Amino acid sequence: MTSVTFEEATRRYPGTTRPAVDQLDLCVDDGEFVVLVGPSGCGKTTSLRMIAGLEVVDSGRIRIGARDVTDDDPKDRNVAMVFQNYALYPHMTVAQNMGFALKIARITKAEVRERVLDAARLLDLEQYLDRKPKDLSGGQRQRVAMGRAIVRRPQVFLMDEPLSNLDAKLRVQTRNQIAGLQRRLGTTTVYVTHDQVEAMTMGDRVAVLRDGVLQQCAAPRELYRSPVNMFVAEFIGSPAMNLFTLPVVDHSVLLGNWPIQLPREISDVAGEIVVGIRPEHFKIGTSGIEMQIDVVEELGADAYLYGRVSGADNVFGHPIVARADGHDPPTRGTRVRLHPQRGHLHFFAVDGRRLR
Ligand SMILES: Nc1ncnc2c1ncn2[C@@H]1O[C@H](COP(=O)(O)OP(=O)(O)OP(=O)(O)O)[C@@H](O)[C@H]1O
Ligand SMILES: [Mg+2]
Repeated sequence: MTSVTFEEATRRYPGTTRPAVDQLDLCVDDGEFVVLVGPSGCGKTTSLRMIAGLEVVDSGRIRIGARDVTDDDPKDRNVAMVFQNYALYPHMTVAQNMGFALKIARITKAEVRERVLDAARLLDLEQYLDRKPKDLSGGQRQRVAMGRAIVRRPQVFLMDEPLSNLDAKLRVQTRNQIAGLQRRLGTTTVYVTHDQVEAMTMGDRVAVLRDGVLQQCAAPRELYRSPVNMFVAEFIGSPAMNLFTLPVVDHSVLLGNWPIQLPREISDVAGEIVVGIRPEHFKIGTSGIEMQIDVVEELGADAYLYGRVSGADNVFGHPIVARADGHDPPTRGTRVRLHPQRGHLHFFAVDGRRLR
């Protein structure tokens, strides 16, 4: 087992103006499951390919354990990659697909058989070993792709959106299986997704990338509770955190008709400030920010209210989203009062930095 380290690793594709991955500093500990997450084009796949040796590192280093692998061949890195399009060989059985890389590596037949059986047991694929991929479900095929990686017993797993071909229900099931499997095997894993729910539920830590730049790498709970900037605050959590840009007057701001006192540490901020409140951190009651409800989204256990903040003279302003109990939610067209829960307010400077 081993760690994976990016040391100011940069990849600049020829002919582009800014780096796809920009001085990335990140250490994935031995046995850890780290998820790289961020919007399309932020550099997730490029980062993963840099570990695998499939992408040039223009400056900085990549280490696997203590070893500097920056200039090593992909085949000498002892990593196994699972891609989104895990194309299985259609003419081979599940067992042959899983054992193929080992056969190429001239591992003995007996050893290949044993490793494939081991992996099949772990992945619950034993009864499918003689089938062809076309006779499997999407989730089963995905597990075969995992199996191909597992049988190699690599030091590091690299996974690039391995679940994106699966339907919603199967994704949830399979993501739990992968997370559970990784914990059992204890193999250091870097996992890429653009889905923040996947990131939050699977990762020991989650690294949020934006335009090739690492924003924050932290445990899911910390990312959720203390995002370092507005980008992370908005990216993590669904529906996204409400962000209100408001003028500071007398150490407080007015959200609609509801005054919010700034905490002492930041009460000297002048000009404007951004107040962040997650939809789940309002208490619906008789006091608080007045909201006009335009849309009610019922999800069963929860309902999300979408509407606008009602301000002085009943002028409707800023859009706002609040979570309500799905059992008996308020109805469209009505007004409710939302009381922000204490200790759940976030404050940002207008340039995006977290202030507290
Ligand atoms: N071969 C290439 N040549 C030039 N630019 C590239 C190349 N591959 C990727 N890029 C650019 O580098 C940036 C990062 O790409 P990358 O594939 O790493 O993003 P990603 O985060 O994996 O996105 P997605 O979620 O869409 O898969 C993008 O702006 C992309 O257009
Ligand atoms: Mg990608």
